[in-house]
Amino acid sequence: MTREVITYPNKLLREKSKDVLKFDTELHTLLDDMYDTMIAENGVGLAAIQVAIPLNILIINLPDEEDTQEKENLIEAINPIITHKDGTQLFVEGCLSVPGFNEEIKRAQHIVVEYFDRNGQKKSMEAEDFLAVAWQHEMEHLAGHLFIEHLSIIKRKKFEKEWKRRLKEKR
Ligand code: CO
Repeated sequence: MTREVITYPNKLLREKSKDVLKFDTELHTLLDDMYDTMIAENGVGLAAIQVAIPLNILIINLPDEEDTQEKENLIEAINPIITHKDGTQLFVEGCLSVPGFNEEIKRAQHIVVEYFDRNGQKKSMEAEDFLAVAWQHEMEHLAGHLFIEHLSIIKRKKFEKEWKRRLKEKR
């Protein structure tokens, strides 16, 4: 089932998520709902806080070489931590909580992460390039931050002005 994705400037997006303590059916339902929501919204990643659940859970599902988003490539990460970062890269990012806005953001090029899967099994993964970007973007949600916080002051001001105008139009 899909859930509603909360969008900027919803204050909940600034909340720091808490660790999952129980790997139960409630967690599995949330993960399944997050997947359905991400696919329905044409996203490649989603953090639980984006569906208003402040828990350390993220999913990532990048398109493969044929540009198709195969569910077998889905990453489900519970209580993830980044244990290593190096290099830098620039990548144009977007976010389902800041719909219709894309900007180039500087991130680490290579990372190592540790996390648990939906059954509480400990996992680790190395990621580079787009996958490393996706991990860092989603991890930031869990810390209560958004990618737009990386913008320069000038770009951020421009964004805020544009966003206010759009919110007014929607009303
Ligand atoms: Co996002």
